[in-house]
Amino acid sequence: MTNKIDYVIKPAARLDAAARAERSRDATFGRVFTEHMVTLRWNEESGWHDGRVEPLAPLSIDPATVGLHYGQIVFEGLKAYRLADGGIGVFRPDRYAERFQRSAARLMMPQLPTDEFVGAIEHLIRLDADWVPREADRSLYLRPLLFAADADLALGPSRSYTFVLMAFVTEMFFGAKRAIDVWLCEDYVRAAPGGVGAAKYAGNYAVTYAAQAQATEEGCDQVVWLDARERRWVEELGGMNLLFVEGQDGRLVTPPLAGTILPGVTRQSILELADTVGLTAVERPISVDEWEEGCRTGRITEVFACGTAAQITSVGRVRGRDREWLIGDGSPGPVAERLGALLAGIHRGTEQAPGDWVHRVGGPDADIGETVTLIWREVLAIAVDADSDFFESGGHSVAVLQVLNRIQEQLGTEMSVRDLFENPVLGDFVDVVRTRVHG
Ligand SMILES: Cc1ncc(COP(=O)(O)O)c(C=O)c1O
Repeated sequence: MTNKIDYVIKPAARLDAAARAERSRDATFGRVFTEHMVTLRWNEESGWHDGRVEPLAPLSIDPATVGLHYGQIVFEGLKAYRLADGGIGVFRPDRYAERFQRSAARLMMPQLPTDEFVGAIEHLIRLDADWVPREADRSLYLRPLLFAADADLALGPSRSYTFVLMAFVTEMFFGAKRAIDVWLCEDYVRAAPGGVGAAKYAGNYAVTYAAQAQATEEGCDQVVWLDARERRWVEELGGMNLLFVEGQDGRLVTPPLAGTILPGVTRQSILELADTVGLTAVERPISVDEWEEGCRTGRITEVFACGTAAQITSVGRVRGRDREWLIGDGSPGPVAERLGALLAGIHRGTEQAPGDWVHRVGGPDADIGETVTLIWREVLAIAVDADSDFFESGGHSVAVLQVLNRIQEQLGTEMSVRDLFENPVLGDFVDVVRTRVHG
């Protein structure tokens, strides 16, 4: 990545592995934050500037901040996974970067270039690498946010903006694997033609609370949003897109992106994977009547929701004001399970993606020895092997700091002077680095 923004990096005093494990024991969505954040500023004179990676801390903002009053705020949500080889992969960050740009453009905000978006993620993960979980049902959720920062309440686009990237540990969104129940929402609408439904705009989420409360009251997990004009066409769930399996016809159907639906990266990925599970992807409008009828006749064999947070989740039952039906027998279907397993394998690097979908940050475990050896070789300016002793090979105090800094930069792991003094032989030192990288 070629980044133009200069960064100041101030690492936090790190939690040790035991404290990290304790803090992330209950990884309810959006609660267990890592120790750092990235911030960037934008203004008309300097463009994007003032990159910082610092300990996660409250921001100090003026009470007249435009974003707070007029809602000029967009965000993203993507994930970093622990790969099977111990490395770290971010799923399709370029796609999320492009959506972040489209959302910003809709709200007349500056667009962060894709390489800077990915660069910010790399900066955060390098320092918080130990927070990327190793458990199969956990991952690190990355939350980029952009808000209007002017302290000026005249109505109009801000002339300065703040970007913040934070991350939290997350686990299975709906707990144990089960099919969810959904509520057909007729009293409220999420998005209308010409509105902001296709943007990941902050206000799109607060407006769903009233409908979600209604869904919960009706014993359902999620709201199905219908079109604003007729309340007849299926759009999406509050944070997930919907896909319909027409089993006998071998089709995977989803409503088209017509400006009122969020263009999900997971949705797009599944459409691209459809043929690997023997299905033809089709984008066409689906009405509530067709959904009910299709389930009753058996033409629609499965319905599932998909998104970054919940991955692939089967829908078991649909409820509306005067209707209710089951999809299949109401339990998770085989297509959702196969696609879910395929996607999870791609996230972890055990299944092949049809394109360059996993952006690796740092090297695999196997590279730790190689990386550290190379750092010693460069700093000491002589050939070294596993038996080399750092101090007998000419290592002095400045060289110690150079080695520690480079390890921090390249592996995102903080080693102390003492680590090197206590383990002066390269092979032993590599073992300590490896344990530290793995928490
Ligand atoms: C409204 C809405 N629809 C769909 C999605 C799914 O999109 P993605 O797969 O990119 O997470 C999300 C989540 O970002 C969302 O907020």
